[in-house]
Amino acid sequence: MKTLAVISRKGGAGKTTLAINLSLTAHLAGWKTLLADIDPQRSASDALRARGGSGPCLAEINAGKLFQTGAHAEHDGYDVMLIDTPAAPDADVAVAVNSADLCILVCRPTFLDIASVARSAEMVRRLGKAGLIVLNQAPSKRGGFEPASVRQAVEALRFCGLPVAPIGLRARTIYQQAIARGLSVGEWDAATPAAREIDRLWGHVAALLALDGHGRDARAS
Ligand SMILES: Nc1ncnc2c1ncn2[C@@H]1O[C@H](COP(=O)(O)OP(=O)(O)OP(=O)(O)O)[C@@H](O)[C@H]1O
Ligand SMILES: [Mg+2]
Repeated sequence: MKTLAVISRKGGAGKTTLAINLSLTAHLAGWKTLLADIDPQRSASDALRARGGSGPCLAEINAGKLFQTGAHAEHDGYDVMLIDTPAAPDADVAVAVNSADLCILVCRPTFLDIASVARSAEMVRRLGKAGLIVLNQAPSKRGGFEPASVRQAVEALRFCGLPVAPIGLRARTIYQQAIARGLSVGEWDAATPAAREIDRLWGHVAALLALDGHGRDARAS
């Protein structure tokens, strides 16, 4: 089993939005998926409960139960566990990072988000974990050109010592509409740019986790 922790110490950066969309994408691709919600706010749990039909398994737990939950999930043959984390306290975020094979650091293209992500990246590196920074809520291109805020963010994030994902998420209303029904943006409408960016991001993450298209560890086969 591979474990993915979605983190950001800034509230509202998009942790839950990413955790929900990635876990649904994994589930729909046939991976046995567990979403561990360790945020007492329980936003990921609210989103999954709004969903009709099958979906990823949900574990509503506190950070102290994460290790045990992961061990049970591994024993029960889960392919992937995603952890939706709170912005604070740091100790809970550190537990999630310690459990993870890969940490996704969610960052909006703003000065304060970037400063905060730099500190999270330091923690991920100190704990010897792999990390990937994902830009979220980026303004759309204008006339085919990347807005200056996005270009400057990507440039600044290069100094965090962790890679920036080649696929970011734009600010799009569909993310808010889909999550209200517990759906991924692809389920809401597969023919949208949002669906394409989530699919591409998941492809990138799956490759980093060295998982094949069926959720198996490609290195083990
Ligand atoms: N790419 C996006 N486009 C439009 N809206 C977005 C996007 N990503 C997130 N949002 C919206 O921003 C708000 C915050 O997102 P979300 O709850 O996912 O952040 P969070 O990091 O989990 O917050 P918290 O720190 O409170 O847990 C929500 O209303 C969500 O719908
Ligand atoms: Mg959240």
